Amino acid sequence: MATLAPLRNAVRAQARGQPRAGADAQLLSGDALRLDGVTRAFGALRAVDEVSLTVAAGQKYAILGSNGAGKTTLFNAITGDFPPTGGRIHFFGEDITELPPHERIRKGLRRTYQSSLLFRELSVRENLFLAVRGVASGRFSFRRAGDAHASTRATQDLLERTRLTHIAHELVANLAHGQQRQLEIGMALAGAPRLILFDEPAAGLSPAERRELVALLRSLPAHMSFVLIEHDLDIALRVVDKVTVMHNGRVLRTGTPQEIESDTQVQAIYMGSRH
Ligand SMILES: Nc1ncnc2c1ncn2[C@@H]1O[C@H](COP(=O)(O)OP(=O)(O)O)[C@@H](O)[C@H]1O
Ligand SMILES: [Mg+2]
Repeated sequence: MATLAPLRNAVRAQARGQPRAGADAQLLSGDALRLDGVTRAFGALRAVDEVSLTVAAGQKYAILGSNGAGKTTLFNAITGDFPPTGGRIHFFGEDITELPPHERIRKGLRRTYQSSLLFRELSVRENLFLAVRGVASGRFSFRRAGDAHASTRATQDLLERTRLTHIAHELVANLAHGQQRQLEIGMALAGAPRLILFDEPAAGLSPAERRELVALLRSLPAHMSFVLIEHDLDIALRVVDKVTVMHNGRVLRTGTPQEIESDTQVQAIYMGSRH
């Protein structure tokens, strides 16, 4: 069975090599992400409607909500894949609302997708290489041959850190579902991410793979922020410091996991519709 354990260990090892406490304190100051009244309309539909929330530097954050609540659309607004039609987005104090997606990536923003966007006919190594190159140049470009060595080294480093070396030459199409999700997270770790958006990374995983995913998310470096979209409340509540529940494109409630779990309106609207 595919397992995320090797990746978790690799990320732990990476975390041990991270900046000292003093530098960490600096990295941990301020807000990683601030959304002010972010709106995304598709015609008459306001898929995301005046959403405001703040993710502190280093904070682990979850967005919950039933299907169609606007969670993925919110990620698309943050990354610029579908820019907001209203509101402002600040990333580490800088207004990125108008920036194209590749500029946001260059600033340390990463995401994974709900449905896999891996290159299925390429190998694990080739996929990671593309991630490294995309990060290195801000777009998928092979112009500067002089950089190829550094990219190859970075790819190898990522393979080893994620312990995917033994399947480096395997085509993605041949991987188990859990291995594909592992590779996706590995790709999101390329470069120096400061905030990663995970769109339902546990979808389709077995119970054992889910436990590994939880452990992996808990092992990410202290200074690295993430926002996790997750249907399974039990998973989300175990790995985050703060939760926003969305409903019909709007923020229903924001609070600590404990506050969210005991909120009667959340229970009525969200948990009541879970099954
Ligand atoms: N590209 C799009 N064009 C039109 N409507 C969209 C588009 N993307 C999402 N929507 C609509 O926005 C709403 C929220 O969708 P989504 O953000 O995918 O929800 P969630 O991720 O919470 O399940 C849905 O009604 C969906 O049909
Ligand atoms: Mg979604």
